[in-house]
Amino acid sequence: MRVPMIAGNWKMNTTVEEARRLVTEMRPALDRIESVEKVVCPPFVSLTAVASVIKGSTVGLGAQNVYCEEKGAYTGEISPLMLAGLCQYVIIGHSERRQYFNEDGALINKKVKAALKAGLKPILCVGEQLRENVAGKTAEVVTGQLEAALVDIKDADRLVVAYEPVWAIGTGRAATGAQSNETIGLIRSTIARRYGRSVADGVRILYGGSVTADNIAEFASQPEIDGGLVGGASLKADQFVSIVRKTAEVKGLRV
Ligand code: PGA
Repeated sequence: MRVPMIAGNWKMNTTVEEARRLVTEMRPALDRIESVEKVVCPPFVSLTAVASVIKGSTVGLGAQNVYCEEKGAYTGEISPLMLAGLCQYVIIGHSERRQYFNEDGALINKKVKAALKAGLKPILCVGEQLRENVAGKTAEVVTGQLEAALVDIKDADRLVVAYEPVWAIGTGRAATGAQSNETIGLIRSTIARRYGRSVADGVRILYGGSVTADNIAEFASQPEIDGGLVGGASLKADQFVSIVRKTAEVKGLRV
């Protein structure tokens, strides 16, 4: 059985001091819920501070982005080698990176390769825009993004995928559990076609987009959905803890 996962994407929020305070507030309650994997993804500059607060706990750490080269003249970028040893996960291909920073499938593919090479676990984000959804192109867009990200990648064992419909991100308008379960099932069968059934059965696939403590049960109760990638609600300690707790409850696991 797949261990459910809740990852908090703090985006461009929190100063170092605020990040330290937020994770300090969450740590005790999160640490007690062992049946769900918890990951917080603060901004780069807070990774070290957050790492020292969660040291020795069951809370994991992720970055929100990474560059595809190991080192060199890439002013302002952070390499996978810099992240390895500091955190376990890295979000790649978030729709905000695709939209505001023009990241395309080829770059995302290079980033996934570089992250895997450095021993990191990518949280690869895919998702359709509203007009694509309305045009009935969700399946085509999502499998296209997934295929592009996985070109020449031999091993998908360490991969986590997050299905995040762009129209649901930060809008308060989450998708439905049934819709997301269907698309996530499609993502899993795409992975199965490339890597075989047993790999696909082991890959965690999360739903993201306006997840809250009030709606997480709708997603976590779906058979294909292994948890959530949470933005806004991950910035409130009580909300985030409650999302993790409800995930454990709905999956019938120890809280
Ligand atoms: P949201 O963001 O929960 O604020 O909608 C999710 C995400 O972008 O990962």
